[in-house]
Parts: sequence; C-alpha cells; structure tokens
Amino acid sequence: AEETAKSRQVEAICERHANREGPLLPILHDLQAAFGYVPGEAIGEVARYLNLSRAEVYGVVTFYHDFRRTPPRPHSLKVCRAEACQAVGGREVWATASSLAADPACRVDVEAVYCLGNCPCAPSVQFDERTLGRLTPDRVSSLIAGAVG
Ligand code: FES
Repeated sequence: AEETAKSRQVEAICERHANREGPLLPILHDLQAAFGYVPGEAIGEVARYLNLSRAEVYGVVTFYHDFRRTPPRPHSLKVCRAEACQAVGGREVWATASSLAADPACRVDVEAVYCLGNCPCAPSVQFDERTLGRLTPDRVSSLIAGAVG
C-alpha cells in the first residue's frame, strides 16, 4: 500500500509539471522535496511519463550532485575541505569520515564543505547543527560511532 501511495505521489508530481518546457528537473526537485531523495522506482515512472528512457532520467539524477539516490540518514557531518583545515589535519579527518560513511549501516551523511568560518580552530566540521573544531581522526570516528539515535 505504501508503494502505491508513493507511486501516486510520483504521478501527481509529474502531472504538475507535464505542460511546461523542460519538466524533468522540476519533477526531480519536487521528488527530492517530497521524499528526501529521488527513489529508484520513481526513475522508471518519470521516464514513462515523459517518454524518455530510464537511462536518460538516471543520467540526469546522477549528473547533479544535489540529487540524492538514497534516503537521508538521521545525522549529518560536514567536513571542511578548504585550505586552512586541509593544512592542519583536515585531510585525515575527511579520509576517516568518508570511509566510515561508506558503510551502508552508517547513521551519518558525510559531505565536504569549503570553509565553515571556523578556521582558527581548524580542522573543523559541522555535526548536525554544531560547529566543532580541532578534529582528529579519532574524534571524528567517535562522533560517527556515537551517532546511534
Ligand atoms: Fe575550514 Fe575555514 S578553512 S573552517
């Protein structure tokens, strides 16, 4: 039943944009707003609706990094990869965080950002809403490991 509801929602979003020029991007944006990501099963529906191939729609979803293909995780970690942080250990913090996030069971979305305005306390990250400084690989591992909620 949940699948049908989802598919009806996908169809409603397609219909909303059907008559405009270049409907694909607005449809994908609305899907992401509705679900938090672009569900794989929506790709086929959108393709059918717009008379495109699945590969075409899939290509657009993967081309734009703003589109997620998996549901958002409960926590978010933004790792600064700008120069001031990179120079004092940010590279190792990023390497640790991104390798932990590669585990599908990880509860934290990890992404790169470029300067959090916290350069004096480099290397910096933002964990959920908190900006933290002087990160080390060990500290970032325990942040990620502690994110169980
Ligand atoms: Fe990392 Fe500014 S360079 S916080």
